[in-house]
Amino acid sequence: MALETLLAIESTCDETAVALIDSSGRVLSECVATQESLHEKFAGVVPEIAARAHLERILPVIDTAMRQSGKAPEDLAAIAVATYPGLPGSLIVGLSAAKALALAWDKPIVGINHIQAHIYACGLDTPESIYPCVGFIVSGGHTSLYRCDDPLGWDYLGGTIDDAAGEAFDKVAVMLGLSFPGGPALSKLACKGDPHAIRFPRPLIDDPKRLDFSFSGLKTAVRYRIAGSSNPDPTAVVLEEKQRADIAAGFEQAVIDCLISKACAALNRTDLKRLCVGGGVAANTKFRQQLTEACRARRIELVIAKPQWCTDNAAMGALAWEKIRRGQYDTLELDVQPGLVRPKR
Ligand code: KG4
Ligand code: ZN
Repeated sequence: MALETLLAIESTCDETAVALIDSSGRVLSECVATQESLHEKFAGVVPEIAARAHLERILPVIDTAMRQSGKAPEDLAAIAVATYPGLPGSLIVGLSAAKALALAWDKPIVGINHIQAHIYACGLDTPESIYPCVGFIVSGGHTSLYRCDDPLGWDYLGGTIDDAAGEAFDKVAVMLGLSFPGGPALSKLACKGDPHAIRFPRPLIDDPKRLDFSFSGLKTAVRYRIAGSSNPDPTAVVLEEKQRADIAAGFEQAVIDCLISKACAALNRTDLKRLCVGGGVAANTKFRQQLTEACRARRIELVIAKPQWCTDNAAMGALAWEKIRRGQYDTLELDVQPGLVRPKR
């Protein structure tokens, strides 16, 4: 009898996650250990701290996911693990755990691309295929657009040339004295402000030929707005609450306009009629609302991953079934490919 259960490991950044998934894509169990509290005081993910925390958590997380699924090692068809892109130390912990399980339980190992998995997550709770589509990943580490003809076949269309959108949210949140991760806190503050009170720049938005993003100049514009060009520390400036809220709302709207404009340009260029969005920033309420309206007006089908699968998780490791079906197993020679992968254009 064919074995029908996959154990998937995700440890690319600061979430240690394990899921058990059956061959129809049904998630039998999932366990995610977040590290937000460890990185909060640094207002960003510290790679060494992340790797050490993965090391402490990976075995308990595997145990919990196995127990909750009611499955035994004999039931597993393979061990899947995200091997790229991501932080080197974090990736190595997940891969080492996957190799150890593969060796101890005599199971094949399958390496997966974390970004392809984020896109795949959009289809986890839909019976129909989400392919072909434009895949759009907007997270703390990535802001990129892909033409996805099938789960494993894709072309890079464009992406950020500096900060990722979530990273810009996190950095502007620090300037406004908000907690990490900054996205949720900043958008809460933005609700009290007027998104049109301050018009921040929308870099690259007027060039529809380029499907790229740039958020670093926008971030600097916010800094200057708060503290002027000569003051190096915006957190030392005391602003009125209304001013803070207007800055947050103006910044958020500028990011959303850039994201929606380039997503629409990617749909135009590819002539595809479906947009699949994942990554932590896809949890942003205004972004979801405005993107929904933009897609409705253009008769584009919009699929946004459900919130728990927007952020890093292991359920999206279901992508490994696509490789297993094609016989694309890896060996214990499998290695990590750290960094931000920018596939060739
Ligand atoms: O996908 P994710 O969990 O982790 C990776 O970066 O891989 O995304 C986290 C990012 C953070 O930068 C966080 O500030 C941002 O997503 N984020 C948001 C919101 N929720 C999370 N940004 C804007 N609005 C939100 N509601
Ligand atoms: Zn991610």
